[in-house]
Amino acid sequence: MKKTYQIAVFPGDGIGVEVIREALKILDVLAATANVAFEVRHGLIGGAAYDASGTPFPAESLDLALGSDAVLLGAVGGPKWEGLDYSVRPERALLGLREKLGLFANMRPVRVFDELVAASPLKPEVVRGIDIMIIRELTGDLYFGKPRGIRMENGQRIGVNTLVYTEEEIRRIALVAFETAMKRKKRVVSVDKANVLESTQLWRDVVTEVSRDFPEVDLRHMYVDNCAMQLIGNPAQFDIIVTTNLFGDILSDEAAMITGSIGMLPSASLGVTGGMYEPIHGSAPDIAGQDIANPLATILSVAMMLRYSCRMEKGARCIEAAVQEVLRAGFRTKDIHQEGTMLVGTAEMGDEVVKQFKNIKIAGNS
Ligand code: IPM
Ligand code: MG
Repeated sequence: MKKTYQIAVFPGDGIGVEVIREALKILDVLAATANVAFEVRHGLIGGAAYDASGTPFPAESLDLALGSDAVLLGAVGGPKWEGLDYSVRPERALLGLREKLGLFANMRPVRVFDELVAASPLKPEVVRGIDIMIIRELTGDLYFGKPRGIRMENGQRIGVNTLVYTEEEIRRIALVAFETAMKRKKRVVSVDKANVLESTQLWRDVVTEVSRDFPEVDLRHMYVDNCAMQLIGNPAQFDIIVTTNLFGDILSDEAAMITGSIGMLPSASLGVTGGMYEPIHGSAPDIAGQDIANPLATILSVAMMLRYSCRMEKGARCIEAAVQEVLRAGFRTKDIHQEGTMLVGTAEMGDEVVKQFKNIKIAGNS
């Protein structure tokens, strides 16, 4: 009997809609060729949901996510909704999903494809072969800490957010980092600001404690400001970076530029059960609806979904190989386009990946 996976799909806003469309083409091909079925159910979140129902995170969407094996998400937000109260901003949906699904571990692989070395703003010798896994804690830190808000005190407004981590929260993300390290190069850099922030001194202490159970793994601690510099100066020194929610948010955008474009980076958000998969880029309202967005980050997110939620490692690798083949053949969306390569739109890029994916699957089955 075919195994069936329930997939909740939330395209969201802006280019989210366009890149999800391309990613779903791959799922269709996979369902047609592999011994697996995907029951894809669409839901509304973000600005699109707000416009339709007055809330960015409708209860039906949460139920849909909770009742699925995995969530595939595009992006949320845009200038149209920026003036709204925090409680109904599109981003609440994303944060709500992370919180309600308990997705505390955000895996953000930063991999430089050989074909894109020249697309990086950094020198080829600095970026060639870069393969970093940023593991970002996703349900704590300033993003969720209380108290929070803007209030009046002594006749002036004060803005407050709280950086809080329990040792349990740190321990479980550290475990993910060390277990992942055992399957990679056995090297972890833990990033904090322990010279100033007590909460991250605790981070450093607990990560060190967890490391004692992994004597084979080489652990280094690094302050976040130094890490920001090292990522540009010598990214090859990193294999796994494990860090807090806010630092991970910032460092992963920075690291994305090593690859030439944020349009190349997928992510997986994992909890005790379930998983959510999304490109790390945003909704990019400035280029939405123009068929120029890069769908590869979302397509690579589908690969991560197969790997982590469907235990289909082979399928995941086929998608990654298909992306590589398309790049090798010279197809480029605008963000990674360079002289001598072929400029294609979002849909055409998706079609090219499908074509290569079919070839690889046929070759693999014969
Ligand atoms: C990300 C995004 C989100 C975050 C925003 C859209 C809330 O930047 O996934 O990196 O800050 O986590
Ligand atoms: Mg971000």
